[in-house]
Amino acid sequence: MSNIRDVAREAGVSVATVSRALSDPDKVSQTSLNKVHSAIDKVGYRPNMLARSFRSAKSYAVVVLVPDITNPFFSQVIRSIEDRAQQKGYAVLLGDTRGILEREKEYIRRVETRLADGVIQLRPDEPEKQSSYMPEGVVCVNACGCESTKGPRVRIDNRGAAKAVVDYLISLGHKRIGVISGLKDNPHTIDRLAGYKEALAGADIAFDKSLVAEGDFTTWSGLNSAKQFCTMTERPTAIFCMNDEMAIGAIQTLKSHGLRVPEDISVTGFDDISYARYCDPSLTTVAQPAEEIGKLAMDMLLRLIEGEELAQEENVLPAEFVIRKSTGVPCKD
Ligand code: RIB
Repeated sequence: MSNIRDVAREAGVSVATVSRALSDPDKVSQTSLNKVHSAIDKVGYRPNMLARSFRSAKSYAVVVLVPDITNPFFSQVIRSIEDRAQQKGYAVLLGDTRGILEREKEYIRRVETRLADGVIQLRPDEPEKQSSYMPEGVVCVNACGCESTKGPRVRIDNRGAAKAVVDYLISLGHKRIGVISGLKDNPHTIDRLAGYKEALAGADIAFDKSLVAEGDFTTWSGLNSAKQFCTMTERPTAIFCMNDEMAIGAIQTLKSHGLRVPEDISVTGFDDISYARYCDPSLTTVAQPAEEIGKLAMDMLLRLIEGEELAQEENVLPAEFVIRKSTGVPCKD
């Protein structure tokens, strides 16, 4: 079996450099890192990770809490977290919590018992739950924060992005704009609904709560919630859906009621998941920077793990409004 000295000999670097490349890759030049990695492959060296963890008192694993693993937006964020974690020598433990606090606590216990070094939370925190569920000493970054999130966080301007979507619909001539929201207490729902209301107020359109249908961010809920708009005597001419999955579900329902999108009714989404450009018609939506969100959240968590104080660090990343074929001017009748 090969050892660290074989790697150093093969790579033409010192044993200390090999050791640093394994434990602290940021402190080694890219050229030396490349040499060490190809030498490891060549000599078939398998470092003793248990010994490494023992020496550093770290597990080199992080927990990612995801409220819905089937949501493609979250998969994109997780992929980016995983890529970054791997570059930094960390593994990712995935907790598909379905938003259930008990399941979250189960995963958080892994950090308390040192099976992982920190947590990335993808559920936007509801303010009253924030202090109660994260034990003292557990480092955590919220990667999908909102305006009320406390602690180290990455977020987009959900309110501003929602306002931009509704402003656009108003600029096309829509006045009766329905909403398919997430669950009403979800902080993303709160921020996005605030953006919707701001856009209406800016155009002197009165808010009408009968135009808000509550979904839960799943395709199924979009499919169901859209039904109430199809049967209204005075139907909305556009629907702002708070994510792409619900928008795709809503489009199915509208079509099955003989309505054309966008000729009879415009539909918008939020996230820009990959299906958004391939569904029929392609979806006008807000592109969240999923890759940057994941990378930045992982980098922040690593800084916390290294003992840096990031108590209230907030990173608000830009989101892009993407106009596709699901929106148009309202029909005249
Ligand atoms: O929680 C579900 C939604 O919130 C996702 O679709 C994404 O929009 C996230 O921000």
